Amino acid sequence: MVLYNQYMRLDAFVSRFGDFSRSESRRIVRSNRVSLNGVLTNDPSTVVNEKDTVVVDGKPIEAFDNVYVALNKPAGYVCSRERSEGRSVFELIDANFSADLSIGGRLDKDATGLLILSNDGMFIHEVISPRKNVEKEYLVETAEEITENEVSMISGGLFIGNNEFSKPVHVEVIDHLHMRIILTEGRYHEVKRLVSASGNRVINLHRRRIGYYCLSEELRPGEWKLLSENDRKKITGT
Ligand code: URA
Repeated sequence: MVLYNQYMRLDAFVSRFGDFSRSESRRIVRSNRVSLNGVLTNDPSTVVNEKDTVVVDGKPIEAFDNVYVALNKPAGYVCSRERSEGRSVFELIDANFSADLSIGGRLDKDATGLLILSNDGMFIHEVISPRKNVEKEYLVETAEEITENEVSMISGGLFIGNNEFSKPVHVEVIDHLHMRIILTEGRYHEVKRLVSASGNRVINLHRRRIGYYCLSEELRPGEWKLLSENDRKKITGT
């Protein structure tokens, strides 16, 4: 996959697409470990573009442009790069663009389901901005039987603590312990806080849809895939 089509310096290319720091990549180039179109090249300022073949220590470096990823997040992984917080969802994406990715709407460590990641900052902003009204659909399992009162409290909008008001949301009861909640805001722990403000408690939370893009059943927990242009449009509509 080569999507990248601009000119850039060799050290910048090796850094960005080889996942090395800028100083590391300069050192790598200077120490004769990089070949450009089959010729060893030790000048970091050499200009390259997408048609060039860059190889570091015998391994070809693949260029990429904007990438859009869907990941089926398993429970037990955090949406953070902070090592002290535990296993990270980024560890699951074994690709050279992994270090460039941001998450379009985090999930809690114990939550599962659809995560969208990209290195396209505008796109990520659109997915999470409450003003864009991108729907996020959650399947919720509760500790106690769901009552009519809880449903009307959650769907009518509710103070969820910290002086924050969650706007009215769409709620659909599936059975006495399961419901579907559709949000557009994406506040911190919003589903859990909504459910607990109504008097119940979430014991399982799964996100199955963002915008009009549904998590594919073929994607098992921990697996990811690149999204097509069409899939990307399903998420933000543009
Ligand atoms: N709301 C929550 O409470 N947790 C999530 O992970 C996502 C939405």
